[in-house]
Amino acid sequence: MPNSATTPYTPQPGRYTGCMHYARCGRSGVLLPRISLGFWHHFGQADDFARSRALACHAFDHGVTHFDLANNYGPPPGSAEETLGRLMATDLAPYRDELFISTKAGYEMWPGPYGNWGSRKSLMASLDQSLRRMKLDYVDLFYSHRYDPETPLEETLQALIDVVRQGKALYVGLSRWPLEATKRAVAYLAARDCPPLAYQGRLNMFDQAPVDDGILSYCREAGMGFVGFSPLAQGLLTDRYLQGIPADSRMAQQRFLKSDALTPQRLEQLHALNRTARAQGRTLAQMALRWVLQQEGVTTVLVGAGSVEQLDQNLQALRQA
Ligand SMILES: NC(=O)c1ccc[n+]([C@@H]2O[C@H](COP(=O)([O-])OP(=O)(O)OC[C@H]3O[C@@H](n4cnc5c(N)ncnc54)[C@H](OP(=O)(O)O)[C@@H]3O)[C@@H](O)[C@H]2O)c1
Repeated sequence: MPNSATTPYTPQPGRYTGCMHYARCGRSGVLLPRISLGFWHHFGQADDFARSRALACHAFDHGVTHFDLANNYGPPPGSAEETLGRLMATDLAPYRDELFISTKAGYEMWPGPYGNWGSRKSLMASLDQSLRRMKLDYVDLFYSHRYDPETPLEETLQALIDVVRQGKALYVGLSRWPLEATKRAVAYLAARDCPPLAYQGRLNMFDQAPVDDGILSYCREAGMGFVGFSPLAQGLLTDRYLQGIPADSRMAQQRFLKSDALTPQRLEQLHALNRTARAQGRTLAQMALRWVLQQEGVTTVLVGAGSVEQLDQNLQALRQA
């Protein structure tokens, strides 16, 4: 971890011999860390850069080689990618080949008819913007962030193939696509020698949709990695809300995690899960992460963290038997 804003960052020499394990992403040559770092929260312009820097460097020091972004992460949208660009300039550029960086396009990003959804026009322009913000020549993985029911599937998929052909992305992926469209996409992409590397979906102890709707088993069958997001249910599956709603928490912002998620029944369930975790010698966050990692077919989980202490606690889940 960097000692101060002015100290040059030197990664830990032991970063690949510690707690991190790597898993093969589907039937590909790529190994991903079992725990990866998401840039959705805590990396925007509104956040303290020193903390964002400490989080990214701490993760890399512990073998977290995969950072997950999207065009719209911030706030404001785009600023998480700018933070990554700043980190590249200050600290990480020498380690570009050790990093696996993903971004996405598909949610509203700029005004007008081309800043949203899955047209070729939107995806191509968005990736160019992302590369400029991140100060990168290419991303490792470019996702369609969501299925667009109004754009011909072939148009979206051909745009993904073409960004690979142009050298702007090494691999492509799908996020939150429904099962039937995913099957059609896999067939289309594989027939053009550009099989999708990964599917990104929400998976945690409270939301098991990818298991129930067959996405996870289909990913195994199709040779696609599965990247699980919000493994801690945005912080619910931690000790964060056991004693109320902290002022600096995601729930206090009332945007993506609302206080109505914390019903008396949910709170009771969280206390019971917390007791189970403690009896196992773990924190609730560690038990929740282990649950996701144990689902067959899960390549990596994308954790968010608001502090180095939270991140460290999450990484320790990999050390436990
Ligand atoms: N493809 C998609 O559509 C999509 C959607 C959502 C997310 N994602 C990806 O998935 C990543 C992770 O999502 P997420 O942030 O919702 O993940 P998460 O890991 O479920 O939640 C992260 C939040 O949980 C709290 N937390 C984490 N570790 C903790 C600990 N040990 N103890 C107490 N609290 C802890 C923190 O909340 P506080 O901030 O309140 O401290 C943190 O911001 C994102 O960054 C993004 O890359 C993708």
